[in-house]
Amino acid sequence: MRVKKVLLRTLVSIPLLVCAGGLQAQTAQNSAHAIPKTSEQVYKNIQVLKGVPADQFIPAMQFIAASLGVQCDFCHIENAFDKDDKETKQTARKMMRMMFTINKDNFEGHQEVTCFACHRGARKPLIIPSVNQDDVKVAEEEKTRPEETTGLPAAEQIVAKYLQAIGGAEAVAKISTRIQKGTLTVGAKSFPVEVLAQAPARRITTVGFPGGDSVTGINGAEGWLSTAGRAPHEMGPSELDAAKLDAELFFPTYLKQIFRELRVQKRELLNGKQAYVVLGIRERQLPVELYFDEESGLLLRMQRYTETPVGRNPTQIEFADYRSEGGVKTPFRWTVARPNGRFTIQIEQMQQSIPIEENRFAKPTVAPPSS
Ligand code: HEC
Ligand code: HEC
Repeated sequence: MRVKKVLLRTLVSIPLLVCAGGLQAQTAQNSAHAIPKTSEQVYKNIQVLKGVPADQFIPAMQFIAASLGVQCDFCHIENAFDKDDKETKQTARKMMRMMFTINKDNFEGHQEVTCFACHRGARKPLIIPSVNQDDVKVAEEEKTRPEETTGLPAAEQIVAKYLQAIGGAEAVAKISTRIQKGTLTVGAKSFPVEVLAQAPARRITTVGFPGGDSVTGINGAEGWLSTAGRAPHEMGPSELDAAKLDAELFFPTYLKQIFRELRVQKRELLNGKQAYVVLGIRERQLPVELYFDEESGLLLRMQRYTETPVGRNPTQIEFADYRSEGGVKTPFRWTVARPNGRFTIQIEQMQQSIPIEENRFAKPTVAPPSS
């Protein structure tokens, strides 16, 4: 039980590459080819979210916590997530039912009203318009953010400029592998990180936490997560999708293969730079937003979403510190941000196109050694 508590704390306070892996590893042990389990098959006391794929369950909890601006313990007592001792948990069940009904009766079942739509990061939603301007700042910012939707270039032009900016499609296609070493920073703490990648979709990220390595691995159609010397947990479909996208975008020659369609949405100011927002549309997956710098052509940001039964969880990755190595520019710094936290990876050393032993991309059968 203690393990579970420590684990959960890590999960919640460090929203790492390992989103919810550990918790499910304890209960689910899904094998890659088994039929995905539903939440009630994995957890003990599910009354509302029955039939929801188990791998969407913890993301749904994270969505709820972020929407209300609270931690898990707002509704749960320690080490007993199945217990219904807290009134807030009971209220949350009522709220979920209410929300599903609102959407069904008014929005043809589309997820238009979510916990966040009302709560906006607060336990109790504001229900009376404010006389204090500060309270409406968020809405105001959204309104005044400069945004243009006309006179935009074609998606092909933006992508071509991007490939040109990073060294040209031919040079990019020549990069077969990358080994990067650097530092991952969460808040005031830093940890060593290593990224091993091979085109088109293999990537192993290892973070050396004091309690042991945390590994996120993707090898084509297979993905896994392991924390602090524990046996690896198979990624669920949405975790796998996200990890695969990150791995594929690391070798951007494949942009055209990743997205069925690229659609230019708008021109927007991003951190003082004019950027084109391009929607990347994929088969059976949620669209991804790609922000390209109008001037340099470089990719500044990617925003992707994970489906949960109560709303979509956003993940935003900002790319910076582009450096040229082997004739190809690649970001040496990226920041991954989610509603419950963020971390930054700064690369210090990189090697490219050197062979990486096949077995380094294999899913570990035993837990990785602690470092
Ligand atoms: C606003 C209230 C609320 C918050 C905050 C919340 N939960 Fe929940 N949680 C619930 C409700 C309600 C259920 C039961 C869902 C159902 O009956 O379908 C639940 C169920 C669970 C279960 C299933 C337990 C079992 O075996 O039945 C787990 C695990 C869980 N939550 C984890 C978390 C984690 C981790 C967090 C923080 C990221 C969190 N919850 C935050 C309301 C909340
Ligand atoms: C249509 C608007 C609306 C939506 C959607 C909504 N809520 Fe609420 N919620 C409210 C209001 C209003 C209150 C405050 C009621 C009061 O003051 O007693 C509230 C109160 C709560 C409380 C009690 C807070 C406390 O401090 O006691 C919880 C927990 C809660 N909501 C969870 C959720 C969750 C989880 C979702 C999404 C599944 C959600 N709500 C969606 C309007 C909404």
